[in-house]
Amino acid sequence: MNRNYVVCECTGTTVGQIEQAVQQGGRTFDDVKARLGVGKQCIKCKDLISLLIESYVEDLEEE
Ligand code: FES
Repeated sequence: MNRNYVVCECTGTTVGQIEQAVQQGGRTFDDVKARLGVGKQCIKCKDLISLLIESYVEDLEEE
């Protein structure tokens, strides 16, 4: 997925920022929510962001 794609429209948070939050230790949606402020308004981004987190965590575990 394009790193510049905006996954949370309410905050303008991009795919790349989600990846970075995982690299910095975020492991769950709530971790990333606390770091970036995503999912605090309409919450429609939650499912996609959760999937992205899962996939980045798997990538890290494979390294
Ligand atoms: S799109 Fe993320 S809180 Fe609205």
